[in-house]
Amino acid sequence: MKQIAIVGSGTMGNGIAHTFAQFGYQVNLIDINEEALHHAVKTIGKNLDRQVTKGSITIADKEATLSRIHTTADLKAGVSQADLVVEAATENIELKLNIFRELDVYAKPEAILASNTSSISITQIAAVTGRGTQVIGMHFMNPVPVMKLVEVIRGYATSDETTNQIMAVSAKLDKVPVEVNDYPGFVANRILMPMINEAITTLFEGVAGVKEIDTVMKLGMAHPMGPLQLADFIGLDVCLAILQVLQQGFGQAKYAPCPLLINMVMAGKTGVKSGEGFYDYSQGIKEANVASKFLNQ
Ligand SMILES: NC(=O)c1ccc[n+]([C@@H]2O[C@H](COP(=O)([O-])OP(=O)(O)OC[C@H]3O[C@@H](n4cnc5c(N)ncnc54)[C@H](O)[C@@H]3O)[C@@H](O)[C@H]2O)c1
Repeated sequence: MKQIAIVGSGTMGNGIAHTFAQFGYQVNLIDINEEALHHAVKTIGKNLDRQVTKGSITIADKEATLSRIHTTADLKAGVSQADLVVEAATENIELKLNIFRELDVYAKPEAILASNTSSISITQIAAVTGRGTQVIGMHFMNPVPVMKLVEVIRGYATSDETTNQIMAVSAKLDKVPVEVNDYPGFVANRILMPMINEAITTLFEGVAGVKEIDTVMKLGMAHPMGPLQLADFIGLDVCLAILQVLQQGFGQAKYAPCPLLINMVMAGKTGVKSGEGFYDYSQGIKEANVASKFLNQ
């Protein structure tokens, strides 16, 4: 594998592009939104600068990495030469099914089509293509250049050959791939999202404040970040979308998203990317005024 195409240049897409390019792959980064592409390249530059400052890469490595990343809004041109396409577009099933229908037409017949989806069925995505054996989940964690795990999700039809190739390419990125089967939320989000949802419900019910909940989990459970801040980093819209997939997929009330989460997403308070979630990121990080929005306050 030499040529990689990444579809979607948001939080995850720019990190995935950064990582492949850093390890010598040629990357086409594709987005329908030109502004998002512009923002992604700026973010990659800043993150590479941080690696230079830490001494983990040289300035020459930074320049070489950036030179391997090409951006385009043209999906067909962007994927036509790719050996591997990693889709990291918005977590919405219809949107992803449409992208995979197009990828099946535009990508080389031998290309592997991977999705970075947090929760949507790989089996369902594969079924809209004519190459189900070559469709797989490649679930990177945020921030991609830093986090070691790649959750590799085998759909019902995914072949051993495809799985082995994705395990191998993940290892070449200095990641640790873990193979799991395709059920809602896979492993990572099936466990993480109910915890985040419970933290939001704990806040919503007035059991404790934002900082208190996060501090309990940081100092008491040795989590590096509290669940509310983690939700802000993931994106509250992404958290909501994953919980809805779990709720529909398992048909159990325990996955129902907290009304506070739904309200915050509807109000556009999606966390770090919007500047505010449970914390306000406009001037440093301070607690946002979430409690005043509760029904009983
Ligand atoms: N945010 C996280 O921490 C995280 C972690 C693991 C996996 N994921 C998954 O990664 C995927 C992307 O999430 P994100 O947080 O980067 O979202 P995001 O909202 O930051 O970025 C999504 C990008 O996709 C683009 N897009 C939408 N439709 C498109 C199309 N048809 N073609 C090309 N680009 C299109 C948007 O313009 C946007 O730039 C989702 O499936 C999400 O579940 C997210």
